[in-house]
Amino acid sequence: MSIAHYQQVLNEIAIEVRPLLTQGKVADYIPALASIDPNQFSIAIYTTDGQTVCAGDCSERFTIQSVSKVMTLTLALQRYGDALWERVGKEPSGTAFNSLTQLEFEKGIPRNPFINAGAIVTCDALYGRLSAPRYFMLDTFRKLAGNQSIIIDKAVANSEYEFKHRNAAMAHLMKSFDNFNNDVDDVLWSYFNFCAIELNCIELAKAYNFLANKGVDCSSGKQVLTSLQNKQLNSLLFTSGLYDAAGDFGYRVGMPGKSGVSGAILAVLPNKFTVAVYSPGLNGFGNSVAGITALELLSHKLDISIF
Ligand code: DON
Repeated sequence: MSIAHYQQVLNEIAIEVRPLLTQGKVADYIPALASIDPNQFSIAIYTTDGQTVCAGDCSERFTIQSVSKVMTLTLALQRYGDALWERVGKEPSGTAFNSLTQLEFEKGIPRNPFINAGAIVTCDALYGRLSAPRYFMLDTFRKLAGNQSIIIDKAVANSEYEFKHRNAAMAHLMKSFDNFNNDVDDVLWSYFNFCAIELNCIELAKAYNFLANKGVDCSSGKQVLTSLQNKQLNSLLFTSGLYDAAGDFGYRVGMPGKSGVSGAILAVLPNKFTVAVYSPGLNGFGNSVAGITALELLSHKLDISIF
């Protein structure tokens, strides 16, 4: 498929999703996100041979929120390998991203690394291996996206930290089950800063291009994950990347994906490209309304999926 064809399809999608932009609701449980204009849309493809195609307002940056959990897991797998799975599971949760209930029944072991509890315990693991986690994570994105001007949105990180109570409750519950090693507030501060890293769609697709390229960053040729780990991570994204809406997303889009409450979604077409989409209006599961439809249209129009 040619780049010109990708471009034409993205242009069509940007027009077709326009009526959906006002249908979702921006995340308001983080006050700094509540004032964001929902009427925004961008989509970008980054191919495994290093080409970019985009439509909509592609230079607009947004905080990546839970899409950062994929990099947290990547960095933790680099350091712990399979030992990480003693602390976090691999199963879909079937519950909301910020649910606390399973943690009590399942003795402080979160279902998977993409729900908040799972990402926070993965941050705890990482925290023990990095001297400056926030800067390391920021630097990782800067290098992979190829842009040193990428920053953390301090207002968003501070706002999340101020309203941290639910995430703090999860971390303390895990500590009570002996599945948390570091100071809860320190780890949460790292976690919120990871969520508050700001990228645009092109940078987001580029930063995660290794997921479509057997674990190798196509710009630098660096092996970010082994091919096996890359397959495993993509499999987990397919089953759990969109929380209790993973089944619906898999059915409609046919690719592994990860969403964030800013309205960002990343999806992976192995050996071809990563695609990032941004539109802040969310459905009841905390996933972008226009973003999911855009990826569904992409999958139909290009006749692509992992199957
Ligand atoms: O923990 C939080 O509330 C956010 N910083 C991240 C949540 C998120 O993006 C969930 N995604 N749909």
